[in-house]
Parts: sequence; structure tokens; C-alpha cells
Amino acid sequence: MRISLLASLAVLGFSSVAAIAQTPAPTKVAHKTQTVPPPIVALTPPMGWNSWNYFAEKVTDKDIRDSADQIVSTGMKDAGYIYVNIDDTWEGKRDENGVLHTNDKFPDMKALADYVHSKGLKIGIYSSPGPKTCAGFEGSLGHEEQDAKLYAEWGIDYLKYDLCSYIPEVMEKEARFDRARQMELMHQAYDKMSKALKATGRPIVLSLCQYGWDAVWEWAPALGGNAWRTTGDIEANWNSMYTILSSQAGLEKYAGPGHWNDPDMLEVGNGGMTDTEYQTHMSLWCLLSAPLLAGNDIRDMKPSIADILMNKEVLAIDQDKLGKQGVRVAQEGTVEVWAKPLADGGHAVGLFNRGDAAAKVTAKWSDVGVTGSHTVRDLWKHEDLGKVADQYSVEVPSHGVVMIKIAK
Ligand code: GLA
Repeated sequence: MRISLLASLAVLGFSSVAAIAQTPAPTKVAHKTQTVPPPIVALTPPMGWNSWNYFAEKVTDKDIRDSADQIVSTGMKDAGYIYVNIDDTWEGKRDENGVLHTNDKFPDMKALADYVHSKGLKIGIYSSPGPKTCAGFEGSLGHEEQDAKLYAEWGIDYLKYDLCSYIPEVMEKEARFDRARQMELMHQAYDKMSKALKATGRPIVLSLCQYGWDAVWEWAPALGGNAWRTTGDIEANWNSMYTILSSQAGLEKYAGPGHWNDPDMLEVGNGGMTDTEYQTHMSLWCLLSAPLLAGNDIRDMKPSIADILMNKEVLAIDQDKLGKQGVRVAQEGTVEVWAKPLADGGHAVGLFNRGDAAAKVTAKWSDVGVTGSHTVRDLWKHEDLGKVADQYSVEVPSHGVVMIKIAK
């Protein structure tokens, strides 16, 4: 059974904390502006696969090897899905020297990393700044440098660092009624791991997972964060996906090469949504320049899901080198239009209908920021629509999308 952040914190006895963890973006605390260091990883949003959304706490070494094999054989690797990320529940106990060992499900992490690398892929891992992870396994508190070195020795390329028990065990214990100090402690925890990773000399993507607290997008880039979760956990259903989307408008100015807003991993192919809804989910994440971490069982992927995950024209929008996150440029009732400027001077535009019946959606060039007549292409259908002047109108199915590219 999948353990949600809420459930796992509750299991750990953090019921009050769990409630806060689901609250998006609480009031931000003032902090010093720092210079953003030049990024060397994640110049485009990281793409890959993560074990949590499908395997959750059951994930094993074999699942990771099988998934790596399938990422290659299905063509996902060629489409750009490079990171194979092990989420929570790989951790064992520390020995008398504080060295963390894997548990029985992962007999040899170095061998696993070598295997994933031998496929031309990269490997990611998961930890928490607290004493325990969200699923109650060993966290990195007090062992940050030691753990970062271990990751580098294993050959790890990506770390998801999840706040979890750091909330009750450090933030609340050390500063019970002092919200500002709690936030400061949280910044320090991420800064510490960021520095520890840098000190290893290995380029490792740092992905912050603290559910969007304290306007994380404002301070994470300065401490070297390459991506930061902007919300609580996504679930494999339409309401969860669309609720997350609704809170992303306005965050566009914080994303760019090396540092990305992360509305959480993809649920495409995990059940709970129709193929039409998965197309919408994928289109939105690409327009948002979000990290694209597939979370399905790739060993058993339907052709329609493969088509959604590997539509190269849609993926190219996410991976566009300009690195500008899309903006919601129009909204009326249950239809909305999102647009993202591209490196070649064109624009990607998503025409969305979240209503219960098909609806006509219009993208006005004036809203997108272009004038006159331009060549338009339908990115899902791979179809040229010819030259279109001033606006494009189309009927969009319920919960569906039409995604176009307006050429320069
Ligand atoms: C939290 C995170 C999830 C996942 C689990 C693992 O809930 O937000 O993405 O990593 O922890 O325990």
C-alpha cells in the first residue's frame, strides 16, 4: 500500500505536523538574498523515473534493475528519461562508525548504481534531513557529510531530500513557538546537505522536498537546489493533479536552467485517470517546465501510455533550452490557456478544458504575446495546421487538451 506523506507522518506520531505539511506555501520569512551559483546539472528539467508512485515502500533492487532495463527497451531512455531514482525505504541501519548501510531489499547499492550506469542511465537516491524519513527509515541528521560521501562513492547522481521528521524532531523541538526560527532551521538543513554534496566533487542533482513551505522557490536556488517541490504529494487522480496545477500560476519567474519548480512526479499510467486526462497532466507539466519523473510500472506499460510519455514534440517543450516556465495567459469559466516562450522564438500553447462537457477554447495571439499570421502545429497529433492569424479556436474534450506550437 502506498504511504502518503500525511499518513506516514501520522504513523510517526506527527499528526499536527502532517496537517501543516499539506498546506501550500505558508507566509514566507525574510531571508538574505544571495548570489545564485552557476548550475552544472539540471540545465533542463531533470527527466527520469522514480520508484515511489508505483512501488512505494515495496521497491527492491530487482525492481530498479528491471525498470532500468525497461527504460532502455521501451525507448524512454532515447526520449530523455535518464534518472532512475530510488525513493524511500532503501535505508538500513548505521554501524558503529555511523556509516549507513542498505536494508535487505538492496544488497549492494554500488553494484546497483554500476548496473544502472552500464545502461547509460543515471541513478538517484532519497533521504531526509531529520532522524527518520517519511516512511520511518534512517535519515541523515548529524551524518550529512558522511552520507553525501557515501552517495558519491556509490556513484549517485540525484538526491531527493525530504523534510519529514526534521519538522517535529528539530524545527518544533528547537523553536516550538517561533515560526521564523523554524524556517531558518529548515533553510540551514538544506544548505548543509547542499554543501556536503558539493564537497564530494561529484555533480549530484539536489531536489528539495518540503512541500513548498516558506516560498521555497525564493531561497532554494541560492543554496544550490536544482528543483523544489511546490506542493504536497500528488495522487493518481484528476482532482489531485488539477489542484496542484491551480497553485502553480505565478511561480514562473523562479524557474530557469539549473533550478526548477517541481509540482511532483508524474502519475501517467498509474490508474485513476483516463488517457485524455493523462495527456492533460503531461501537457501541463511540460508547459510548467517541470521535472518529468515518470512513476508507473514500466514493465507493464500500455501503448497509449508509452505514446503519452514519449511524445517527443511535447517533451521538447519541457526540455526547451530557454528554460522559461509557462504562464496561464487566459482563463474563462472552466477553460484556460497556458503559453510558454521557446528558444527558437516560437511559443507552445496549451488549450485546456477542465469542464465536464466538450468546450470550444480560443488562444488569442494577443494573450500569448504574438501578432499576425504564424504557422501552427498540433503537437499531440503531429499535424501541421497551416498559417493561422490572430487566434486559434478548437473544440477540446472534457478534461482534455489541445497543445500547439506557434512558430516564430
Ligand atoms: C513524502 C514525499 C513523497 C515520498 C514519500 C516517501 O510523502 O513527499 O514523494 O518521497 O515521502 O516516504
